[in-house]
Amino acid sequence: MDLFEYQARDLFAKHDVPVLAGEVIDTPEAAREITERLGGKSVVKAQVKVGGRGKAGGVKLAATPDEAVARSTDILGMDIKGHTVHKVMIAETAPEIVEEYYVSFLLDRANRTFLSIASVEGGMDIEEVAATRPEAVAKTPIDAIDGVTAEKAREIVEAAKFPAEVADKVADVLVKLWDVFIKEDALLVEVNPLAKVASGDVIALDGKVSLDDNAEFRHPEFEELHDKAAANPLEAAAKEKNLNYVKLDGEVGIIGNGAGLVMSTLDVVAYAGEKHGDVKPANFLDIGGGASAQVMANGLEIILGDPDVKSVFVNVFGGITACDEVANGIVQALKLLEDRGEEVTKPLVVRLDGNNAELGRQILTDANHPLVQRVDTMDGAADKAAELAHAAK
Ligand SMILES: Nc1ncnc2c1ncn2[C@@H]1O[C@H](COP(=O)(O)OP(=O)(O)OP(=O)(O)O)[C@@H](O)[C@H]1O
Ligand SMILES: [Mg+2]
Repeated sequence: MDLFEYQARDLFAKHDVPVLAGEVIDTPEAAREITERLGGKSVVKAQVKVGGRGKAGGVKLAATPDEAVARSTDILGMDIKGHTVHKVMIAETAPEIVEEYYVSFLLDRANRTFLSIASVEGGMDIEEVAATRPEAVAKTPIDAIDGVTAEKAREIVEAAKFPAEVADKVADVLVKLWDVFIKEDALLVEVNPLAKVASGDVIALDGKVSLDDNAEFRHPEFEELHDKAAANPLEAAAKEKNLNYVKLDGEVGIIGNGAGLVMSTLDVVAYAGEKHGDVKPANFLDIGGGASAQVMANGLEIILGDPDVKSVFVNVFGGITACDEVANGIVQALKLLEDRGEEVTKPLVVRLDGNNAELGRQILTDANHPLVQRVDTMDGAADKAAELAHAAK
């Protein structure tokens, strides 16, 4: 999960990384009071999860509270690289900036290690520096067990050739940022710029943090960091039901058991779709091994609730998951929706094979639901589902 700058700033503050005061708002008028409190001036910063905000006009100095309101009016609602600005941070203005540095920690998957990247030529042109003068960017691998000790921090400072007068301060910031990286289970912690100000202090003026979703079980507090406004409502509903669901942009709803089978189901449907008006899969949904009838019903409910879905393909190879459970789930889900007064109109193509397939097929035959049809091969079922989706388009 990528964080907004203001969320990164709060995590930095929690771990004693030097930052400036800042508050996030979503209406321009709110900028006035905050700017007054910050001593009459501020920096208005667009909160979008994309880099290059400054260059796009999303970071503006305001010399008075009135100007802060005016700049917030300009920036709120702006589009930055396809991201609409819904919130701005009203930040304290840094005292005179003398130099801008770049520092980050990240997971280097290719080398199976953590990596520090640092440069004394940070700021808004860091991408350009990295592309044209890679020697100005120091990359230092970090041992996962030793981490960033004071000694390691000094090694990074030397590799990046930080000036002597800031060396200790930058090393101190690096140790604290490593704390953020490890204790918050981050995959990326980036500060650009880490500014040297006239007093000689260094301050993190911008922060980018990406947290490891796999560590959420250790961090109940991450829940609050989710950007609920941006979440797809179907994905949010699926998440609430603990389903592995990803919305895609096609018309054939997909349910299967096991990530591998679902992935290949997406492929066969996309392939079959080429013959039927180019219809495509509408989602990924893996109900997992050993799924109960209830899980099947939950999954179908999400998929049938997707207005883009024109037909549904249920593809189950019974292993731990027994096909009779799946068949019961389908029958129950349809009944549940109908009892609720929701008219189900989308055709379902079901392919059951493996554990208890015969029993499962029998349950569907007995239920004799007008919208459900069985096809006993995966390719045949994909073709039928694509054909039905095309016909309903
Ligand atoms: N609080 C502040 N006080 C003074 N100047 C600031 C402040 N915050 C940012 N700046 C200036 O604005 C520039 C751009 O801000 P920032 O780095 O936050 O946005 P950005 O352009 O999205 O960053 P990036 O290029 O890393 O994506 C900084 O390099 C810095 O010079
Ligand atoms: Mg920046």
